[in-house]
Amino acid sequence: MKVLDIKQEINMTESLMTRINELISHYPEGKQKSALLPVLHEVQDAHNDWLSIELQDKVAEILSIKPVEVYEVVSFYTMFNRQPIGKYMFEFCTTSPCCLNGVENLMDYTCDKLGVKVGEPTPDGMFEVRGVQCLGACGYAPMMQLGDFYQEHLTKEKIDQLIVDCRDNKITLHDK
Ligand code: FES
Repeated sequence: MKVLDIKQEINMTESLMTRINELISHYPEGKQKSALLPVLHEVQDAHNDWLSIELQDKVAEILSIKPVEVYEVVSFYTMFNRQPIGKYMFEFCTTSPCCLNGVENLMDYTCDKLGVKVGEPTPDGMFEVRGVQCLGACGYAPMMQLGDFYQEHLTKEKIDQLIVDCRDNKITLHDK
């Protein structure tokens, strides 16, 4: 993935630092690197769901580790974003059980409805569609993740309603 050169305002608020320090306190002295994944989630949630290089450097500084140790984690996991994403990211599971239950048709339907391709935000920055690997909810296929929450047994009608609810600001993205 090409990483765009876009500036991100870094805002390590007092409440964010309190949560980070609380996460770090779960690990023994000198092992603060173990808190990297939960800290990255916290920091990303607090910064419009993406992590610029400068922000990753900040995380490295907080955890007293090398920046490259953060870069390699952020670039490995699809749940971390290295550039701005649509506010409402529809992450469709594209593994076999969801595919057998029609997820590909639903992704195509969603892209057509929003006028975008997979991985491309709408011009207003509101929506984006992405395919991800199994989200561990195969019994509820076809499904997707939207923010911190799962949307299950998807149909075209459910997608239509979700888009309306997103536009009406009725969708909660994070559970805190
Ligand atoms: S295959 Fe879709 S959640 Fe597991």
